Amino acid sequence: MFRRPTGTEDRLPDQQAVWRFIVKAAETTAARFGYGRLDTPTFEETALFVRGVGEGTDLIEQETYTFEDRGGTRLTLRSEGTAPAMRAYLQSGLQSAPIPVRLYYVTPIFRYDRPQRGRLREHHQFGVEAIGESDAAMDVETIQLLSCFYHAAGLSSVNLQLNSIGDERCRPAFIEILRHYYSSRLDQVCANCQVRYVKNPLRLLDCKEDRCQPVIAAAPKPLEHLCAGCREHFERVQYLLRLLRITFTLNDRLVRGLGYYTRTVFEFYGAREGAQAALGGGGRYNRLVEELGGKPTPAVGFGCGLERVVLALQEEHVPRPEDPGIDISICHLGREAEDWALIVASTLRQQGFRVVTTPGERRIAVQLKQADHYRARFAGIIGSEEAASRTVSLRDMKTKEEKHGLTVESIIARLSTEARDSH
Ligand code: HAM
Repeated sequence: MFRRPTGTEDRLPDQQAVWRFIVKAAETTAARFGYGRLDTPTFEETALFVRGVGEGTDLIEQETYTFEDRGGTRLTLRSEGTAPAMRAYLQSGLQSAPIPVRLYYVTPIFRYDRPQRGRLREHHQFGVEAIGESDAAMDVETIQLLSCFYHAAGLSSVNLQLNSIGDERCRPAFIEILRHYYSSRLDQVCANCQVRYVKNPLRLLDCKEDRCQPVIAAAPKPLEHLCAGCREHFERVQYLLRLLRITFTLNDRLVRGLGYYTRTVFEFYGAREGAQAALGGGGRYNRLVEELGGKPTPAVGFGCGLERVVLALQEEHVPRPEDPGIDISICHLGREAEDWALIVASTLRQQGFRVVTTPGERRIAVQLKQADHYRARFAGIIGSEEAASRTVSLRDMKTKEEKHGLTVESIIARLSTEARDSH
């Protein structure tokens, strides 16, 4: 028997209502802030991600799904949303639109990650990118948008962590200071950190290994080494967050995994005690567009894992939205009754009602059980008598009351009243 690939999920019919609700919350929130939807291809040239995200990051070194197509082109399944969005921005003429250009996406992301609860090899992100504006109010807009999305999705307690990692003016000097600090402590840190020391030193601050914690605690932090421009920007971000009553915690160890960030970085966490996995994260990236061949263009955005939002809703015991049940389940007894049942069902569907039938011959009790399974509001029962008189017996599945000899027109009237009352 085949099984789905490790780290992937099936989304079964009874999980769709929650999913649709969350995606709708994302779309509505993005629209409320004036963001337009962007869809990009499932795969891109490998070089786009390497250039965009940066060599030396875990994503590029270990996690991409990369292959060569039959024409010999190296392609990578979408491993994050920002580099493709910038590629589309540069390729499609969006550069000439008034700034900021506000884009959002809801899209599958593929990463060869180590699967565990909330960590998948195919997950879905709601993300936004605001391109062209360097003002701190733009950073705050994206943070506020994400916060509003969590609220719209039904999460009541999320916690925002905030940091600034400096820019091309102050970061190189900080990296040197950090390297210098670690150079005499490499024997005290884990094997991964020894690699990070060479390839991606900023991530030293982000290690979760117990043995590295004392070294990190005493390490220099980017916030202590910001240049005047970065400091002023970060002050303004904090001021505006307070103004808008968006609570946050400063986390001077927050550095993010992808290579393109400058200045503001942020992550949201769920309420669960000790939650390790971020519900969403992002930040400013003022060099990426230029890095991909465009003019120097500041930008800021976030990505939010939708499967993690589903888990957080379960953890907070938020009631699940359910698909509405069907309007009527048509049961029949005997061959001629089946003919009439199928005609009644199609007539009702043409009127826009949700209708199921019960093909084959089953006892009425079994057919009514099926109606319950579909959460049918009514059951229409058709035996030889109803078939002969072109009528239907209608059973109210709530009150169990039955009415006999109804015409199709009166069934339509009854279902319409019901539909009106339930709205
Ligand atoms: P990221 O932090 O790599 O950022 O991913 C964003 C979010 O996607 C995470 O906070 C998490 O909720 C979810 N996520 C990441 N990996 C997994 C996984 N393996 N399984 C389930 N969920 C996952 C980015 O991708 C950036 N492109 C965000 C961004 C946009 N920054 C600026 N603009």
